[in-house]
Amino acid sequence: MDESKRPWGYSGYVPVQHETRLEKLISAMPTIERVPSGVPGLDDLIEGGLPKGRIIGLTGSAGSGKTTMGFQFLHHGMTQCNEAGVYVTLEDEVSDLYQDLSRYGWDIKAAMQQNKLALVKSQIPIEVNTPLTVDSLLDKIHHAVTQVNAKRLVFDSLSALGFCYTETSNLRRDVLRLCSLLRELGCTTLLLSEMPDRGEATMRFGLAQFVTQGMMVLHLAHTYRAVEIRKMRATRHDTNVHRMRFTDHGLQITPGEHPF
Ligand SMILES: Nc1ncnc2c1ncn2[C@@H]1O[C@H](COP(=O)(O)OP(=O)(O)O)[C@@H](O)[C@H]1O
Ligand SMILES: [Mg+2]
Repeated sequence: MDESKRPWGYSGYVPVQHETRLEKLISAMPTIERVPSGVPGLDDLIEGGLPKGRIIGLTGSAGSGKTTMGFQFLHHGMTQCNEAGVYVTLEDEVSDLYQDLSRYGWDIKAAMQQNKLALVKSQIPIEVNTPLTVDSLLDKIHHAVTQVNAKRLVFDSLSALGFCYTETSNLRRDVLRLCSLLRELGCTTLLLSEMPDRGEATMRFGLAQFVTQGMMVLHLAHTYRAVEIRKMRATRHDTNVHRMRFTDHGLQITPGEHPF
């Protein structure tokens, strides 16, 4: 059959035209802005930084460096990017934090006085037979973000929140409400959670995977520390483990250096 006579006007497959159209579509898509993490080496693994305005999970066992990385991210924002931050803790005492973080030369008291940082310290009462809601915590977070016009937020931690609940469905509902608020506030957020022991698939870890658009894992073993980017939407990244060290100024990653 003469191709030009086909009723739908088929004139042969011309892949170049299709590719050109696709390329045009891709180039018309808005590029994702990146937020520098402040952790030397980390941004090289994730196309220059964390995707702006997204919720990124940061998980690892106790002592793996989650709180340190969280504050390093906030400190970098305040000091290098003119971006205020909010730190939400359900875990650490504020006086301990002042002391621990001053070891890296980070003066969080001064940052708070200059309105570059707001701390939300919250204790959620243990749920006893009644459905618990995180209303007061959400109000505090909203207030803190507005107060300092925060662009960065660290939530420390989802696991601590999970310990307050006996009903999984209530926890799931409140985590979804929390994440909905975080997205609305538009901050680039690190959502910290404790990594369960090997093989233990807890609801908390599952939840963190479910509500985040990225997941970074901090590894701690007898002889090494390392970071692994397990998921990062809209980002080219490898899934290797990269050596991480504590220094006098916080954490530092050496991309490509195998930890063992
Ligand atoms: N100056 C330092 N040099 C080496 N390791 C340090 C230093 N300061 C803290 N650490 C390590 O950091 C750990 C605490 O890190 P942290 O960020 O609080 O972990 P997480 O929040 O994951 O529990 C400590 O257990 C210690 O091993
Ligand atoms: Mg911690």
